[in-house]
Amino acid sequence: MKILVTGGAGYIGSHVLNLLGMTGEHEIVVVDNLSTGRKEAMLYGRHVEENLENTEAIDKLFEKEKFEACIHFAGSIVVPESVTDPIKYYKNNTENSLNVISMCVKHKCNNFIFSSTAAVYGDLEGGVCTEESITVPINPYGTSKLMTENMLRDIAAATDINFVVLRYFNVAGANVDLKIGQCTPNATHLIKIASECASGKREKMAIFGTDYNTPDGTCVRDYIHVDDLAQAHVDSLSYLKNGGESQIMNCGYGHGFSVNEVIDAVREVTGVEIIAENIERRAGDAEKLISVADKIRKTIGWQPKYDDLKLIVKTAYEWEKKLK
Ligand code: UD1
Repeated sequence: MKILVTGGAGYIGSHVLNLLGMTGEHEIVVVDNLSTGRKEAMLYGRHVEENLENTEAIDKLFEKEKFEACIHFAGSIVVPESVTDPIKYYKNNTENSLNVISMCVKHKCNNFIFSSTAAVYGDLEGGVCTEESITVPINPYGTSKLMTENMLRDIAAATDINFVVLRYFNVAGANVDLKIGQCTPNATHLIKIASECASGKREKMAIFGTDYNTPDGTCVRDYIHVDDLAQAHVDSLSYLKNGGESQIMNCGYGHGFSVNEVIDAVREVTGVEIIAENIERRAGDAEKLISVADKIRKTIGWQPKYDDLKLIVKTAYEWEKKLK
């Protein structure tokens, strides 16, 4: 297939490019403005450096390339930043997504895969999320993504677009062959930050909130290895190519770890005594988010291979040591 990948220089996009490229089956064009992504992270595909808000340029690109599928990663992802700068999130995640979806409709690129998030569920009672759970985001990041989900649903109902929306839980780790990993500057992700501490790039870290209603008082998340998440995109593409109907699906392992458990795993795997200070809660954090992710296994045959916190941590740490 001829595929447009937006945001392919970013963390998740680059891992998907790696898997897609290795199949040798596709022609891939990547649109990335390199605002947070890195050119060297794109191991496959032809890069076009462009902003998605530049509709004229994107229109011309679609006209020229005649894409059959679009995998749309480009967006902003830092929850606390979305609380202080919501306009950035509605522009980058909602408005730019509408631009891309509109171009897909106009140029008959009918297969669309969208990066959504567990943040659409908000602070769900009990924290166990099925695709039917109510969606009440508690931060602009989650709202900006949910708005795009809703736009896609409505646009698909009125056009020939078929989509897969993947609601990512907490993506972490690096490619198992260490070809690529998370390069995001000033990353806020827990496992990345703990790995920076373990590799000596940071002196200490903070634990945001110890008074949550969880077994040890810290937030609980469903951490999923980035290569497993990347494979879910490859499987989604095959599903759509074979005529599958539009779907919204959770992508997680179905069990979780607390912030303390994650930091302990990093201590154990690396042998480094990480200094972690308990401080107040961070704005926009939900207490507990765990996926029920049976639907994705049944619908597109996704079979995760790296459901192991220590392996996730090990790859993140090894990558961090490699990353200058
Ligand atoms: C959020 C989004 C997720 C998105 C990710 C990208 C939600 C529910 N999820 O995940 O969809 O992909 O951001 O950034 O909004 N923590 C610390 N100390 C740290 C860093 C984190 O204690 O230095 C804690 C956080 O408070 C949180 C947990 O670790 O409880 C995980 O945080 P993080 O890795 O930032 O991801 P989320 O905010 O859960």
